[in-house]
Amino acid sequence: MPDKRLWTSQDNGVTETERDNLFALPLGSKADFVFDEKVARVFPDMIRRSVPGYESIIAMTGTLAGRFATAGSRCYDLGCSLGASILAMQRAIRDRDCQITGIDNSQDMLDRCRLVLGESRDLPRVELICGDIRSARIENASVVVLNFTLQFIPVAERQALLGHIFAGLNPGGILVLSEKVSFSDVRHDQLMIALHHDFKRARGYTDLEISQKRSALEHVLIPETLDVHRQRLRRCGFHSVDVWFQCFNFASLLAIKAPEST
Ligand SMILES: C[S@@+](CC[C@H](N)C(=O)[O-])C[C@H]1O[C@@H](n2cnc3c(N)ncnc32)[C@H](O)[C@@H]1O
Repeated sequence: MPDKRLWTSQDNGVTETERDNLFALPLGSKADFVFDEKVARVFPDMIRRSVPGYESIIAMTGTLAGRFATAGSRCYDLGCSLGASILAMQRAIRDRDCQITGIDNSQDMLDRCRLVLGESRDLPRVELICGDIRSARIENASVVVLNFTLQFIPVAERQALLGHIFAGLNPGGILVLSEKVSFSDVRHDQLMIALHHDFKRARGYTDLEISQKRSALEHVLIPETLDVHRQRLRRCGFHSVDVWFQCFNFASLLAIKAPEST
């Protein structure tokens, strides 16, 4: 029997994960994608083979936290899944008296996140909360990370969530927002989708896996254009908003709240 477990790098850390073959066999009925125990078990392999640039975004989330996390403040990872960004931030701000809070509404994800993070008593302290990020308490924040999570929030509720994050950020604090995005030019949009599928094929996914996963996500993951994201973030009050990373239809934006003096 081949060993189904893989060793997958989560930033510099190593997480034991099974290979993702959840969509390999024809599925009788079409069900929406959920972050359950089956997904949690394969998640590091799934996201690494599905999101172009994922490892860079996670590593640079740590780099950004290293620059912006201030002593005595909190850093949040909203939709933390297995804690990849928590680990990257923890490494980057070891020398500071900060607290990192990871929030996710999937108990299955958080159970595995606890295993990944281990029992470390290292600073900064990490607190994991099972709950909805739309009603989470966000306060005294210098860094808030929303990596591939806003896309699962209903479009009509995104402005309120981002406004709530803005209110909880200290002056000079940042939001890192990573998303699958769409493009208003239909031909460009189709090209980016095709290139994304090429990326997945090159990493071992079959056409059946790609199409079944796409159907499962169709009503659950709603991408928006970069212009829509930029405008919404500016409406929330962020004084500087722009893309710092993009690969095909995956991008990450950095939004900065004005420091007190400006
Ligand atoms: C694609 S994963 C995020 C990946 C993770 N940030 C990373 O970079 O590895 C989306 C996560 O958001 C969580 N999620 C989705 N909607 C949520 C909500 N309303 N409140 C809290 N967590 C949510 C899901 O359970 C899932 O773990």
